[in-house]
Amino acid sequence: MKEEKLVKKLYDENPKKEWDRLFKNPFHKLEFDTTMHFLLKYLPKKGLILDAGGGPGRYTIELAKRGYKIVLLDFSEKNIEFAKKKINQNKLNKKIENTIEGTIINLFTFKNNTFDAVLCLGGALSHVTPEKHRKKAVSELTRVAKYNSKIFISVMGKFGVLLNSVRRWPDEININEHFHNLSVNGEDYMWHGGKAFAHFFTLEELRNLVKGKIKIIEEIGLEGLATPNEEETNRLAKSKRYPNAWKNWLKTHYKLNTHPTIVDSSLHFMIIGRKK
Ligand SMILES: C[S@@+](CC[C@H](N)C(=O)[O-])C[C@H]1O[C@@H](n2cnc3c(N)ncnc32)[C@H](O)[C@@H]1O
Repeated sequence: MKEEKLVKKLYDENPKKEWDRLFKNPFHKLEFDTTMHFLLKYLPKKGLILDAGGGPGRYTIELAKRGYKIVLLDFSEKNIEFAKKKINQNKLNKKIENTIEGTIINLFTFKNNTFDAVLCLGGALSHVTPEKHRKKAVSELTRVAKYNSKIFISVMGKFGVLLNSVRRWPDEININEHFHNLSVNGEDYMWHGGKAFAHFFTLEELRNLVKGKIKIIEEIGLEGLATPNEEETNRLAKSKRYPNAWKNWLKTHYKLNTHPTIVDSSLHFMIIGRKK
């Protein structure tokens, strides 16, 4: 399928870019730190974790360092190669059960009820189209999780993207059909300057997608209230003039980012649930 090929090609082009993404500035680090905060809150103390759509392995490596056994799966060959290098460099080979090139739409290599937790983070599900494939992916992620175990899914949020649009993508707002499709259906065929496809979710849509399979425990906005202000957030984090501001902002971020309004307006948001 055309969209799938384009997404794979884009991620194959530059795995280092994806590796750097979450650490490139305080704004992006909010996604990583907030995700880790909630992973550590809800993951079992030990066990085997599937990092599906795990890309270059940021979460795989962080969790392996904390003693978890991990299987990393991604459909980008170059990301898997890159992740293997990072795993070697960090001497974590013993913690990594396997690194697999494969798709989240069909996890046929794994038996039912295999994993103690399943992750699908950073919007891997946002690259899947059409909707029936997203449904299939959720079924597969759930199938391979043990009964009652936790499943963590984070996606790109439609309202978060729209909150950034006026400032960042006026050229895209200018294209009638494209902007209609993005703002109404969450479908972006011009993602990354037309290189690939992304689907942006509303919270209600993700809730409906997992309905009947996953019982949601928590919903979290990952960039939260910082969503429309990337540059300003980065300035605040480094401000010498307002030395308490970043600490206070983070405190507020963690207090408010589970409010449904904040979840739904975040650039990325995560749901955590139990397999039913
Ligand atoms: C934005 S990256 C996120 C990587 C990692 N989970 C993180 O949060 O840092 C999205 C990843 O999803 C992968 N991906 C997209 N569609 C996929 C699919 N159908 N099956 C497996 N991986 C997929 C891409 O190759 C890419 O590595």
